[in-house]
Amino acid sequence: MGRTILTGDRPTGKLHLGHYVGSLRNRVAIQEAGDYDRMFVFIADVQALTDNAKNPEKIRQNVIEVALDYLSCGLDPSRITMFVQSRVPELCEMTQYFSNLVTVARLQRNPTVKTEIGLRGFHEESDGSGKPGLPVGFFTYPISQAADITAFKATTVPVGDDQEPMVEQTREIVRSFNNTYGEVLVEPEVLLPSNDACRRLPGTDGKAKMSKSLGNCIFLSDSPEDVKKKVMGMFTDPGHLRVSDPGKVEGNAVFIYLDAFCDDGDFGRFWPEYACLEEVKEHYRRGGLGDVKCKKFLLDVLNDRLEPVRARRREFEKDIPMVYEILRKGSESAREVAAKTVDEMRRAMKINYFEDAELIALQAEKYRRQ
Ligand code: TRP
Repeated sequence: MGRTILTGDRPTGKLHLGHYVGSLRNRVAIQEAGDYDRMFVFIADVQALTDNAKNPEKIRQNVIEVALDYLSCGLDPSRITMFVQSRVPELCEMTQYFSNLVTVARLQRNPTVKTEIGLRGFHEESDGSGKPGLPVGFFTYPISQAADITAFKATTVPVGDDQEPMVEQTREIVRSFNNTYGEVLVEPEVLLPSNDACRRLPGTDGKAKMSKSLGNCIFLSDSPEDVKKKVMGMFTDPGHLRVSDPGKVEGNAVFIYLDAFCDDGDFGRFWPEYACLEEVKEHYRRGGLGDVKCKKFLLDVLNDRLEPVRARRREFEKDIPMVYEILRKGSESAREVAAKTVDEMRRAMKINYFEDAELIALQAEKYRRQ
């Protein structure tokens, strides 16, 4: 069977380096390798609204940001389908059918939903705390995510590891649907980033995860000056006070970023005193290597990766109507694919009354006999 890739992001802000090493870079590599039949990358505005219902302007503003981030990373609309979730209403129909196959208890066990509910401070309305209530749409978004994935019969979903439980829940929904109604849907596999640093890139402050709400991000669209400021201010090893002190590499954000970004070729180009990252780490641990030198190298590496991204972004920014047009066209073609899947589902669920000549004939027969 052919391979189909599907993945997407919520348009709640600009994409940052965590997105880049966690998934974007992977997507471009998959696109370039070309060993898939079809690839869909989409902007999950419906999902973004599940916890931003009262703030649609935020979503509206960020759709174009995410589209520009995609295009500037090198995703190519002539080779992949780039679309906007809300323009494929079949996904909502699928979500409704799937929701009959999922229990409340199963959703409550979804670890990503659990964490996110905690982060947002959503509470049961009845607890009287005055905290915001948990929207039904947010609670059930894993079901809608299963629709996103299965509408396109995706075999492979490249995402960061926080999304693994979503793919697992999708697999369960597919099994349940196929067992109940017949084989229509495809069980997807998750494709995770290759190393730990890429799976969970910390913020520049060394905190758990790069995230907009923590204000510790380097954005793909940051200027070289911003990136420099952020890298030079990065958290390292608080015990590494003097250059001569031995330093710790574990938990040191600069080294985690280097694990995620640099390869051996970078040393020849930017830091010929060392042959590879292991040598740098060795020296740092021993003492005698200062943070500033390491940060300068990281900055060179980051700028090397970001410069082509910035250049492409500048080009696309010159023709914003064209970017919307890319999304419109992509959404149309995504909709055709999703509509076909929904047709198959309706047939399997026996709710395709008007296309079912046998049903109509049988009913006609029944009423003739009465
Ligand atoms: N939940 C994903 C995120 O927060 C976005 C998303 C929505 C997605 N639907 C998807 C990712 C389907 C992969 C496949 O980033």
